[in-house]
Amino acid sequence: MKKRIFAFILIALMVTLSACTGKQTETTNASNTQVIKVAFNQPETHPQYKAMEHFGEQIFERTNGAYKIELYPNELLGPQRETVELVQTGAVGMSIVANSLVENFNKKFSILGLPYIYDSKDHQNAVFTDDAIVGELFKSTADKGFTVLTAFHAGVRNVYTNKPINTPDDLKGLKIRIMESDTNVKMMRYMGGVGTPMAQSEVYTATQSGVIDGGENNELIYAHMKHYEVAKYYSYTQHLMIPDLLIINQDIYNGMSEEHRAIFDEEIKNATVLELDLWEVDAEIAKKTAEENGAEFVYPDIKLFQENVKPLHEELTQDPEFKELYDNIRAKAEIIKN
Ligand code: GCU
Repeated sequence: MKKRIFAFILIALMVTLSACTGKQTETTNASNTQVIKVAFNQPETHPQYKAMEHFGEQIFERTNGAYKIELYPNELLGPQRETVELVQTGAVGMSIVANSLVENFNKKFSILGLPYIYDSKDHQNAVFTDDAIVGELFKSTADKGFTVLTAFHAGVRNVYTNKPINTPDDLKGLKIRIMESDTNVKMMRYMGGVGTPMAQSEVYTATQSGVIDGGENNELIYAHMKHYEVAKYYSYTQHLMIPDLLIINQDIYNGMSEEHRAIFDEEIKNATVLELDLWEVDAEIAKKTAEENGAEFVYPDIKLFQENVKPLHEELTQDPEFKELYDNIRAKAEIIKN
């Protein structure tokens, strides 16, 4: 009896599966299916990858197979900086890149990546999903060949090196890898260290060989890339909550029907919320993995760091337009508190 029930379940599963696959292949092969390749520099286990998988399924279904999203993780299409160029030319349809890189196309993005600008993840998410605050900014790079579809949460960044960091003085003389932007160089100087810009994939070897003394990143990268092997102390300076931006080639975006564009806009908002939920769980697991492999976590008082980076806030808000964005972000913190 048990065997028959099992066989029945198996057949039912196979029928369902073949129905799904059949539908997918049929529509995928339709001549009007547009494949959009997405470049991603991190592994399939990353919350952004999972959120994009969900996004892809929704897009395929809701556009009746007019668009198919194909994800290329692990830098298969190149490091982030190069993929921005590929998206500009249309060789790749989409890429997920750090906000710091987009800053090089429109300096105003640096406001989104200021140290200590967000009070919490919820504050940050409320900003990213509010078109009145970021809508125009996200479309501002259209003349450079791409539009920003969304900003994904990318964790809280903390410094790691081979000694505990409790104060800005502890960072004195230490070369810390940072993402490739001027704002990050200045930020690390105010925090006490020396910022060394390079691609994330080079951090392990550079630290191991002593070219740099460590890096600053979220727990996922620290654990996934085994950076704990070369930099044992992970100190919660909590200085950055810098987003990753999903960018799309401008011609692809412009070429969509209004109906399809509305579906993209709606589904990417859903994926943004989903990613934030997934992040929490994965960060805890990553922290545990690092700990089991000998990492030590340090909890400095962050007030001194916060004080030290204030001049960077002042410098970047000299321009009234930048100041307006800054004020809107800060005002949002008060709104969600109440
Ligand atoms: C984070 C971020 C990535 C970025 C990386 C980096 O992991 O999510 O987009 O590539 O930091 O430090 O370069």
